[in-house]
Amino acid sequence: MVISSHIFMSTLHHLILIFFISLLGTSSYLQLIKPVSCTKGPIFKCSEVERAALLGFKYNLTDPSGRLSSWVGEDCCNWLGVGCDNNTGNVVKLDLRNPFSYFDDQYQPYNKSCLRGKISSSLLDLKHLRYFDLSLNNFTGANIPKFLGSLENLRYFNLSFSMFSGVIPPHLGNLSRLQYLDLNSEASYPALNQVESLEWLVGFPSLKYLGMDFVNLEKVPDWLHAINVLPSLRELHLANCRLVSLPSSISSINFTLLSVLDLSGNDFSTSIPQWLSHLTNLRSLNLGGNNFGRNNLIGKIPNSFANLCNLQALYLSRNNINGGITEFVDGLSQCSNSSSEDGNLPSMQEIDLSQNQLNGTIPESIGKLSMLVSLNLYDNQMSGTIPESIGKLSRLVSLGLSMNSWDGVLTEAHFLNLTRLKSLSLYMKVYAKATLVLDVKHDWVPPFKLREIYLTNVQIGPMFPAWIKTQNELESLSLINADISDTIPHGFWKSCPNVIDWSLSQNKLHGQVPYFQFHPSARYFDLSSNNLEGPLPLFHSNLSWIDLRNNLFSGPIPKNIGKLLPKLNFLDLSSNSITGEIPHSIGMLKELGTLFLRNNSLSGKLPHSMRNLSLLEELLLPQNHLEGELPSFFKNYRGLTTLDLGGNKFSGKLPAWIGESSPHLTRLRLRSNLFHGNIPQQLCLLSNLHVLDLAHNNFSGAIPQCLGNYSDVGSGVYANEQMSLVSKGREYIYADLLLLLVHFIDLSSNNLSGEIPVNITNLVDLMSLNLSMNHLTGRIPKKIGNLHMLETLDLSVNELYGPIPESLSSLTFLSHLNLSFNKLSGKIPNGYQLQTLNDSSIYEGNSLLCGPPLSTKCCGPRLSTKCSEDETKPRVTPNGGNGVANENGRASIESFSFYISMTAGFIVGFWGVCGTLIIKTSWRQAYFRGFDNLKDKIIVFVMVKIVRLLRKVKWERS
Ligand SMILES: *[C@@H]1O[C@H](CO)[C@@H](O)[C@H](O)[C@H]1NC(C)=O
Ligand SMILES: *[C@@H]1O[C@H](CO)[C@@H](O)[C@H](O)[C@H]1NC(C)=O
Ligand SMILES: *[C@@H]1O[C@H](CO)[C@@H](O)[C@H](O)[C@H]1NC(C)=O
Ligand SMILES: *[C@@H]1O[C@H](CO)[C@@H](O)[C@H](O)[C@H]1NC(C)=O
Repeated sequence: MVISSHIFMSTLHHLILIFFISLLGTSSYLQLIKPVSCTKGPIFKCSEVERAALLGFKYNLTDPSGRLSSWVGEDCCNWLGVGCDNNTGNVVKLDLRNPFSYFDDQYQPYNKSCLRGKISSSLLDLKHLRYFDLSLNNFTGANIPKFLGSLENLRYFNLSFSMFSGVIPPHLGNLSRLQYLDLNSEASYPALNQVESLEWLVGFPSLKYLGMDFVNLEKVPDWLHAINVLPSLRELHLANCRLVSLPSSISSINFTLLSVLDLSGNDFSTSIPQWLSHLTNLRSLNLGGNNFGRNNLIGKIPNSFANLCNLQALYLSRNNINGGITEFVDGLSQCSNSSSEDGNLPSMQEIDLSQNQLNGTIPESIGKLSMLVSLNLYDNQMSGTIPESIGKLSRLVSLGLSMNSWDGVLTEAHFLNLTRLKSLSLYMKVYAKATLVLDVKHDWVPPFKLREIYLTNVQIGPMFPAWIKTQNELESLSLINADISDTIPHGFWKSCPNVIDWSLSQNKLHGQVPYFQFHPSARYFDLSSNNLEGPLPLFHSNLSWIDLRNNLFSGPIPKNIGKLLPKLNFLDLSSNSITGEIPHSIGMLKELGTLFLRNNSLSGKLPHSMRNLSLLEELLLPQNHLEGELPSFFKNYRGLTTLDLGGNKFSGKLPAWIGESSPHLTRLRLRSNLFHGNIPQQLCLLSNLHVLDLAHNNFSGAIPQCLGNYSDVGSGVYANEQMSLVSKGREYIYADLLLLLVHFIDLSSNNLSGEIPVNITNLVDLMSLNLSMNHLTGRIPKKIGNLHMLETLDLSVNELYGPIPESLSSLTFLSHLNLSFNKLSGKIPNGYQLQTLNDSSIYEGNSLLCGPPLSTKCCGPRLSTKCSEDETKPRVTPNGGNGVANENGRASIESFSFYISMTAGFIVGFWGVCGTLIIKTSWRQAYFRGFDNLKDKIIVFVMVKIVRLLRKVKWERS
């Protein structure tokens, strides 16, 4: 959450900056248009012809909000949005920009104020029109009318965000006096997507502003030549235009006056061209890459960029740029010398190099970029110490150094003059070998008042940093894994009254949390993995996310929890010492999507009021003392994806409706309870199910034949979700992404009878199948070899007979096999993977098996049966059952990287699974569904990281 919110914030900053720059741009162009009076009595009334032209235009539009209601009467110069020339009375300006914008959460008023309909050619009678702004209206599906190319007096022409699509008519090229042309669009709009040529640009010798964001230019490979005919160009916006080529050289540059260049979000895969550094008037350069899956810029930051002494903003984020930043920063810091007349300072204000592959350190010279407002080096490979000179940057507002491997010590000097700093982000990589220490005096009073602080994996403790108390403007506070083993000082909670996101997880904080009042907008409260004790700090607030897991909190869940936390969406109280029953009022938490209470001492039945939790997606209550039958109100949980009731005393039958009421159920774990009866057929209706753990109950009857019908990769894995699954003979905690990938069936230690369903071999993604300790009979399905992802297969202690299918030997990933104590017969297949599983205990207790690794020999035709004279008598107890849980009970990304480092074969297989997963449309949709809740942000973050990681792995292997 912390990181993602950081990404979010920096994007926001970025957008805001772009917005300001473009605003500045716009206003300066507006001044090019002669001032016109729209109000006080002009000398001439508007001409009848022009009045009729405007009325004709209005007539063809729909205008639900009545923006054109003043368009009545004689004098059209007084109509809203119409401007006339003071001397001649001619209509020279038509400003019909929507006063609302959907950008700022004003969708409804924006939508209502949109002009729609047809653009009438009567406009052609406005022969003197110089300024025409139709932006932010809605002409969905319409093409830009060709006749607009005849409004030959136009200087300013703005059709941005008006949902035109199709071709840009080359006729616009006749507007030879044009200075400002804005055709910018946006991702979710229909697009100007049939642009095959930009040759018409040649008609604009005076053009200063050209905006074509999100116009599809993939069919215009020579776009740069087309632009190069615009000698007056000051500002060029070609973001997200699907441009592929960024030529490394250009014979001569015509647009040397260019001041703003935005080529972000395109598909370039080359290095940054040197010629850009000849654009010495550049103030803002944006070459940010694509978010996902497309090509990105490579190579180093050209040394010649140091010449861009007028540059105020440089965005290169989300590319694959490597090398260091020393030469570039050193160079910029010399700018004062080059234009030495009046001691000009380097003008750089914003540097965003985040999400690249940059390495090396931050040079000392950074301290000379005295205008710097924002520095973002988030997510690179940089290392070394952070220079003290950074403390000289007295204008710095935002410092983002997260996800690198810094070491050394940060002292008061590093912050000496940072009086304007509002955002400090130092989220160190989890596996960085380096340690960064923040060592300031206990009574330090920082020069800044931060709004957000993210310090993760930075050593701050052992004492609680008292200076935080001085930060009374804080909105986001995150001190994670900071080695603080202290009590939280008295009054701390009240000293930061504006905090909305609290995170103090993974420290060794102890003591109790006293009552305090949250800010009304507070939404996120994470104290997980500390040694906090006493009653649960569940206080009245509008929090939506509370994570208190892995602490020593004790006592009951407050009886009035439903009243206390009306907005709660996520609650994790796992691994504490909570006792008593789940309170009745929990049913009032109507927005609850996630309830994790695992590993406590809760008892009693689930309260009936829980039927109201109809938005519940995950319910994890394992390892408690809960009892009762599976409540029928679970039927209300239509969106449930995960249900884990393992390790309790739940009893009764597994009802048939379980297969129908929650169609998205992905993980069902009822292990180690007292359930009995048949496993209902309806379970097979759960087409997303990929973890099914019913082990250690008293289920009887046959395994449903249809069990092989599960198909889909499970969707949705959530922050904190973890599940302990017995695999490879040991108990593992699967968390986060691994949980999404694991495909798992454990029905062991029940009273199941009948045969193994043949269909089970359709579950080609299955990684673990455990049917041991039942009364299964019949043969092992011949096609068991179809389960090519299988790592664990345990069929031990059943009554299976017949030969072991040859296909078993083709299971390349099989590393844990147990077929002992059945009635299997004949020769043990060998070859491939089975050769490595040469432990005779795998096969023991099958008196008719022969061949290695058993010492009994095979005889008969094709050596297919056991020789009658041999008799082996191994009698050792089977080694099923639970192993040891891994120490800190969390596999998550750690094991992910562990998995990555395993054998080549495994990686290829793993990539196979993960590859399809990434392409899965459901996932893409999840990604694009937007950042409407915190969980999504985390998942998207994890996903992006993993995709990157996998890409790297794949690349290194090929
Ligand atoms: C937007 O306005 C149009 C026309 O007034 C209307 O048909 C449409 O339903 C509105 N859309 C939304 C999402 O309100
Ligand atoms: C404008 O340009 C188009 C195409 O470039 C051309 O066919 C047309 O004759 C020009 N003149 C007018 C008045 O539209
Ligand atoms: C620069 O612009 C002028 C005027 O439009 C044009 O004649 C010339 O060909 C352009 N140069 C290049 C290299 O395109
Ligand atoms: C810039 O000025 C500093 C001192 O003011 C000097 O040390 C440095 O050499 C100069 N650099 C150049 C390139 O002139």
